[in-house]
Amino acid sequence: MSTATSDRTQKLTSEQIVALSKMHTISEWAVQDAVDPLPIDRAEGVYLYTPDGRRFIDFNSQLMSVNIGHGDRRVVKAIQEQAARLCYVMPGGMTTEPRARLGAKLAEIAPGDIDVFFFTNGGAESVENAFKIARAYTGRYKIMSRYRSYHGATAAAMAATGEPRSWGQAPLPGMIHFTDWYHGVDREQDSADTALRRLEEQIVLEGPQTIAAIIVESVTGTNGILIPPDGYMQGVRALCDKYGIVMIADEVMSGFGRTGEWFAINHWKVVPDLMTMAKGITSSYIPLGAVGMRRKIADYFKDKMFPGGLTYSSHALACAAGLATISVYEEDGLIERTRRMGKVMGELMTDLARRHPSVGAVRNIGLFGVIELIRDRATKQPMAPFNGTAPEMGALGKFFREQGLFTIVRWNYFFTNPPLIITEEQLREAFAIIDRGLEITDKAVK
Ligand SMILES: Cc1ncc(COP(=O)(O)O)c(C=O)c1O
Repeated sequence: MSTATSDRTQKLTSEQIVALSKMHTISEWAVQDAVDPLPIDRAEGVYLYTPDGRRFIDFNSQLMSVNIGHGDRRVVKAIQEQAARLCYVMPGGMTTEPRARLGAKLAEIAPGDIDVFFFTNGGAESVENAFKIARAYTGRYKIMSRYRSYHGATAAAMAATGEPRSWGQAPLPGMIHFTDWYHGVDREQDSADTALRRLEEQIVLEGPQTIAAIIVESVTGTNGILIPPDGYMQGVRALCDKYGIVMIADEVMSGFGRTGEWFAINHWKVVPDLMTMAKGITSSYIPLGAVGMRRKIADYFKDKMFPGGLTYSSHALACAAGLATISVYEEDGLIERTRRMGKVMGELMTDLARRHPSVGAVRNIGLFGVIELIRDRATKQPMAPFNGTAPEMGALGKFFREQGLFTIVRWNYFFTNPPLIITEEQLREAFAIIDRGLEITDKAVK
């Protein structure tokens, strides 16, 4: 390390931050030589700032997680006060006020009789623990999950994940994938009934008595904001009831107001047996995840050992951050606000779809949105193939970055997932950049 970088009183330049990060740290899900990270110095509300003062509008809430926006002083203060008092005690034999309060608060906002929580450090750990709970509770071992899903990067969560990031990982026995209603922008979608009939056939063929759980993202996130047709979630619930299977709703991305409900599954009035959470629970201010369980499942462990543990389960700083974040959702009416702003965003998206030939589909539920691009109006051929890239998508991403808009561009689509505090004016500011960017992809359309 040079003297310039070892002196902690001297701020690093943007170039130094990027160079050292690239030299000594790994960037996730990337070919390392292709990584070109943006150095970020501070953030406030919906904006991020580089050390040299460039401003970006955060149109993906980072990883669909900073729901209350950046730098909320109420959450920062709660973390500071908790840090000054007590950062950590072991989760097994001790407990704390923030842990007690957060458990009780989550019981208040979670659907139905989900009122007991096991705290983790994030989404993947929540999913891992949900699988262990389901296996212990049912005495069965198989886990069914959907293609076009993402459940996390640890072993079982990755094996449940139904998309290319799991292809290169060692498969685990007993992990079964199924298709749902969605088949891509260029194909007819199935009805809820058709998808459910196919799922039931697969359950029967696998042997229901071997299936511990079915895990579904209530609204699929990373794989394209896939919003289930009415009846689908109710149908999965009914199949789980019929065959004694634990239903797990993965709300890691779709929870905490993102869709205009506390949890996306509420749109269909379904109570899952287990619910995994992370991200929005603290809006990412401190890492935290949780598995919520219905009373009957929590009761099962009253006289049997709970099969999980983590050094940082129920971390006091994280629980304090979670409590403060939930207060922000409540105090600022962010759930209701997301419903209203989601309507505005939906109109802006429909307007783009009307005017830009490269827009093949737009979808949103609350402030959870995606724009899918196509290169042929007749066949609806995606602008980039499944799991692939296209020069036009690369150029669009570059344009967004030059214009100060941050979002994730993936395959043939990009996300519209701003913090839930975004104003109409800020939404329009972002959509004006997107509008100009789509001229690039329009040129490729036949
Ligand atoms: C639905 C869903 N489940 C689980 C995860 C994994 O969460 P984490 O990255 O916190 O481990 C994610 C992450 O994006 C997710 O979107």
